Amino acid sequence: MAGSFEGKRVLITGGSSGIGAGLAEGFAAAGAVVGIAARRRDRLVEVLERCRAHTPNSQMWEVDLADPDAVDRLAVEAVDTLGGVDLLVNNAGIPKRRHVSRLDAGTVESVMAINYLSPVRLTLAILPTMLAQGSGRVVFVSSVAAPLSSPGEAAYSASKAAVAVFAETMAVDLWDSGVGVSVVYPGVVDTELFTLPDNDPFTGDVESIPVAEAVTTIMDGVAAGALSIYVPAYFAEFAAQKAQDVDRFLAGTAEYVRSRTGRG
Ligand SMILES: NC(=O)c1ccc[n+]([C@@H]2O[C@H](COP(=O)([O-])OP(=O)(O)OC[C@H]3O[C@@H](n4cnc5c(N)ncnc54)[C@H](OP(=O)(O)O)[C@@H]3O)[C@@H](O)[C@H]2O)c1
Repeated sequence: MAGSFEGKRVLITGGSSGIGAGLAEGFAAAGAVVGIAARRRDRLVEVLERCRAHTPNSQMWEVDLADPDAVDRLAVEAVDTLGGVDLLVNNAGIPKRRHVSRLDAGTVESVMAINYLSPVRLTLAILPTMLAQGSGRVVFVSSVAAPLSSPGEAAYSASKAAVAVFAETMAVDLWDSGVGVSVVYPGVVDTELFTLPDNDPFTGDVESIPVAEAVTTIMDGVAAGALSIYVPAYFAEFAAQKAQDVDRFLAGTAEYVRSRTGRG
């Protein structure tokens, strides 16, 4: 689904704040009828109001995406209410900044549930509608933590890698179907993700970018039908560097962590 978003039906998870809220407003301003889903009703209401200023038929769903049944219900209700889905943006996600020595299996599972299993479940539930239409696009918001193996974020990085590889394989399977796939790799975007409880403090020294800049880059990439969208674009070079020599890249990362924390 490259090109204009006018009249398109766009379902965005995690539309109550940050990148998802920005994308909801961005797509609505571009003429799309937007459906947003997340847990915080008050925040959804605010975002929906701003979307409806552009497209009055935009909708919201208060839903906990950790609940598989709720994900299934969201898919059915969104397709019914919006009359189909042209663009699914799997954006909802949780961080997990925690050194691997302090990780437990339950935490890893809960991160995978939100960041991997839930977007995959929603995608599989909506895909038949897109295939029947013969058009559509599924966008997965991964993270640069996936290709770069961010230190102190093993559970998070792995969940984002899982969703990215699922998306890429799906893109091959659907190559000639009319349904496209995009994977978004944000670097550091200024959102509430860095202040959520139950996470180690964020210690990275990458300069953050505002949500508006991320939204523009993502919407441009989606409009162009891009498979991989790095935000900002220069992160693609870091990913290429790591792919070229993984040992060297990881040794450099460990040295960087040691120099900043005294820990390898
Ligand atoms: N900010 C960055 O630098 C950065 C970098 C790389 C990747 N990302 C990814 O970008 C995506 C958006 O994050 P953000 O930075 O915009 O942070 P954010 O403001 O914290 O947004 C996260 C969104 O996910 C929703 N969400 C979380 N758990 C949910 C659940 N159980 N059920 C339903 N919705 C849930 C939240 O809504 P409720 O709390 O209302 O449910 C919220 O709308 C995430 O996938 C994140 O991993 C962000």
